[in-house]
Amino acid sequence: MPNDPQPEIYPPSPEVIAAACVKDRDEQAVRASRDLEAFWAERAQEFEWFKPWDKVLDDSNKPFFKWFVGARTNIAYNCLDRHIKTWRRNKLALIWEGEKGELRTFSYHALNREVCRFANVLRSMGVKKGDRVTIYMGRVPELPIAMLACAKVGAVHSVVYGGFSVEALHGRIEDSQSNIVITCDGSWMNGKIVELKNIVDEALKRCATVEHVIVVKRTGQPVQMESGRDYWFDDLMGLPVAKSLPGTRSDTEVMDAEDPLFMLYTSGTTGKPKAILHTHGGYMVGVATTLQWAFDLKEEDRWWCTADPGWITGHSYIVYGPLLLGATSFMYEGAPTFPYPNRWWSMVEKYGITVFYTAPTAIRGLMRFGEAWPNRHDLSGLRMLGSVGEPINPEAWRWYHRVIGKGKCPIIDTWWQTETGMFMITPLPSMPLKPGSASKPFPGVEADVYDESGTPVAVGEEGFLVLKNPWPAMMRTIYNDPDRYVKQYWTKYPGVYFTGDSARKDADGYFWVIGRVDDVIKVSGYRLGTAEVESALVSHPAVAEAAAIGLPHEIKGHAIHTYVILKAGHEPSEALAEELKIHVGHETGPIAKPEKITFVKQLPKTRSGKIMRRVLKARAQGLSEGDLTTLEE
Ligand code: WT7
Repeated sequence: MPNDPQPEIYPPSPEVIAAACVKDRDEQAVRASRDLEAFWAERAQEFEWFKPWDKVLDDSNKPFFKWFVGARTNIAYNCLDRHIKTWRRNKLALIWEGEKGELRTFSYHALNREVCRFANVLRSMGVKKGDRVTIYMGRVPELPIAMLACAKVGAVHSVVYGGFSVEALHGRIEDSQSNIVITCDGSWMNGKIVELKNIVDEALKRCATVEHVIVVKRTGQPVQMESGRDYWFDDLMGLPVAKSLPGTRSDTEVMDAEDPLFMLYTSGTTGKPKAILHTHGGYMVGVATTLQWAFDLKEEDRWWCTADPGWITGHSYIVYGPLLLGATSFMYEGAPTFPYPNRWWSMVEKYGITVFYTAPTAIRGLMRFGEAWPNRHDLSGLRMLGSVGEPINPEAWRWYHRVIGKGKCPIIDTWWQTETGMFMITPLPSMPLKPGSASKPFPGVEADVYDESGTPVAVGEEGFLVLKNPWPAMMRTIYNDPDRYVKQYWTKYPGVYFTGDSARKDADGYFWVIGRVDDVIKVSGYRLGTAEVESALVSHPAVAEAAAIGLPHEIKGHAIHTYVILKAGHEPSEALAEELKIHVGHETGPIAKPEKITFVKQLPKTRSGKIMRRVLKARAQGLSEGDLTTLEE
């Protein structure tokens, strides 16, 4: 996506400035750079700690930073128990609409009750502090309930996106060594059932660690229930043991601030997804502060983040962030265009959404249906809009601003990653906006753009986006692979965090993120590794070798194109290409399905045998193939 070199500027309106909780971003940034620890300590005061910290930041063992050292807390306590002691007890925490239009609501009191019950269920199954629990569900309220219950008992949740399939799920269950899987019979997506329980059954045939499967009944089609292993969620929640304890502080596990809260798998440059590990204390402080400051979230707001809880966006800004702030969050189960392309806008109107956060790919997708769909609805309640997942092209930005925001809502373009846990580069509403730029680092964050050797590049030049100091919601490690953590993020520039993105900085200090520089492809804002798609392809009996690349796509941002060498005895055909696409969908998930499969006799490789994806990419786009000195004859 080309970044406009001389963009238009949208200054904040007087109303937006008047409402803003941070009037002057630069002033906060200066405060934070003078004393980072004092800055974050002040933010941390907003929460309840069972024991205060001895030190805000311990950087004695870089890059294994520790935050709020010695403190004790529990994020679930701060999301629920803290609020039910106040008038917020009867405030709505969660409003949910199913794809078929069903409505469920939970006050803080009710949500806490469900979480306490499910925590009791987990404990009665033997789940204890530090155990890993895999959650593989559709977008239903039981998903955040399960996450919070895990946090409450001190278990580490590993949410696997419900759009992943058998092999992706199997790999994640096995790597995390979960004993328990929480799932649904199925989930509704675009009027069709995604057979989650069947996928779990198939994945479990490939691994043996799982003792129990808890199944939420959602879609109601018959599923296999293995006796002694599989239990219905509702049956368990009805047991006396579930109802036994009121939600008191004593049954919330007291956690060290640095104890793990969750792991979340994300794609990198190898075929094996890595489990990014986040903690109770620092993550809590970082996520809540960024949500409050970037979106100016107020007590009376209705917040809607359209992401899936299976991604970091959902973890941080559907589940934990809004609940930490005592906000009312809306969650929708299904597809944005079901049954018609006005579905989202009709819900914005119906539920009085005031702050709306989505992805550029969704905006581009809905834009294509024209303005009449949103214009049928009263969107005047909206006061703030957000974007995340990939660079937003100025055209989509302007449409979002004019048609959805009626020209009055700031667009908060938040740049961050699974690894960062919280927004890192984002406008605050009181700042001037430039379409396509995520603007400046959040106070306390120091970002820069480096060349290959680690020297900051000149204004306007493209280079590698880096982060130069630690932040509380930063990943702590890769689960079970600390070496990979060091190598992947902290070795290219020692002591500096390497993001894997390329970017430019303009004369005003605004950042323009361009995209990934590694073998990660952003498809509709979802992050996928070329190696994951390739390993799914080579697991098919006809495939000898495969290479995947991302090519620009009008709506998805990028789409996956693959090159396949067949084994002897197999002939290229349309039918085989179709079969391979279905195979990738079955192993990894529909989001990984290649757009195009090209059968080839050879792949461009280096002399050491590495596939040169950059050459494939250049050829596909008719561009110069660049330096070919390492290409094998
Ligand atoms: C990658 C991280 C963090 C939530 C969702 C994605 C790209 C993310 C933006 C943005 C330009 C963006 C980057 C980043 N990205 N937000 N506002 N502008 N690029 O998390 O799946 O870990 O992906 O998404 O390339 O590195 P993720």
